[in-house]
Amino acid sequence: MTLSTSQDTGHTPLNVAILGATGAVGEELLRGLEERSFPVASLTLLASKRSAGTPLTFRDKRYVTRDVERVTEEELEAIDVAFFSAGSATSKTYWARFVQAGAVVIDNTSAFRMEPAIPLVVPEVNAEALEGHRGLIANPNCSTIQMMSPLKALHELAGLERVVVSSYQSASGAGRQAMDELRDQTINILNFKEPPVKRFIKRLAFDVIPLIGELKEDGESTEEEKMVKESQKILSLPALKVSATCVRVPTFVGHCLSINVELSRAFELSEAIEALASAEGVVLCEGDELPTTAEVAGQDEVWVGRVRRDPSRPHALNLWCAADNLRKGASTNAIQIAEALIARGLLKTIQL
Ligand code: A2P
Repeated sequence: MTLSTSQDTGHTPLNVAILGATGAVGEELLRGLEERSFPVASLTLLASKRSAGTPLTFRDKRYVTRDVERVTEEELEAIDVAFFSAGSATSKTYWARFVQAGAVVIDNTSAFRMEPAIPLVVPEVNAEALEGHRGLIANPNCSTIQMMSPLKALHELAGLERVVVSSYQSASGAGRQAMDELRDQTINILNFKEPPVKRFIKRLAFDVIPLIGELKEDGESTEEEKMVKESQKILSLPALKVSATCVRVPTFVGHCLSINVELSRAFELSEAIEALASAEGVVLCEGDELPTTAEVAGQDEVWVGRVRRDPSRPHALNLWCAADNLRKGASTNAIQIAEALIARGLLKTIQL
């Protein structure tokens, strides 16, 4: 397992902006930029007017968040790279202003992921997709991100034929207010009170909800559609058969996936284990080492365990995959995209 950091880039410090700085992912972006010694010259922390003035700390220095609506053109022109994590509607409203002013926008929402001309990138898997970008890069869905490196390793071993995945996704995938709601529901139920249900479709505390996003006419959810289509795009396998069921579980941070993978050719289980163990960004747990959400929270890697043959199909195996959805599933991947842009000399945008 290798995991690069930007500590040794030696790159000229950059003017960085975070839109959505007060959110659950925004907080991790700040932490990640600090931990990875990202070359930051200045930091502009943006959110809505609701939270303008919120104090946040970066490298022992105090910053306050500002209303994105009040950012001037002059300020925008100074920004080199902007991380967006404030919802799809906000991204659609602001991306062009930032890109036209010369920033590269790394967008954590689903607003642009499926647009063919916009790179959708997990750096360990398809960093080459960044070449020729036009200032806007999409960060994939949290559950999609964490299965990409393991799937690429298995594809290189014996060709991916079909992937069937079930997700166990924590409340933080729906944002900070969703985490607060799970906490309040839990406390209320333990005190024999009615739990509040606002952010989730049903009560989540002490239950699991077999729907994330909206139900489409064909019965698939929008979250499941993201896992299917984004996987095909990132792996450059447009015909790959992927079937997903996405489930919300009452944990706060960390998503888990149960993945059944059918490969095209025969393989030895030891070869699959070796391929997963050497996949970039993957930590392989063997035997009774079981990656759980509590253990992967705060980590940047994708943790894989329970690797075993699926005896019901000739070239199939099952595996369990856990990752911190706010970090590798969002902030870490976004920062790694910025690091890959630096490494490839691709930070300056081509003006739209
Ligand atoms: P705010 O705190 O001002 O509402 P999360 O995903 O944890 O819910 O966080 C969402 C982030 O996106 C927050 O920082 C939130 O800021 C920000 N945000 C939401 N709507 C807007 C908007 N219309 N304009 C700017 N920032 C927004």
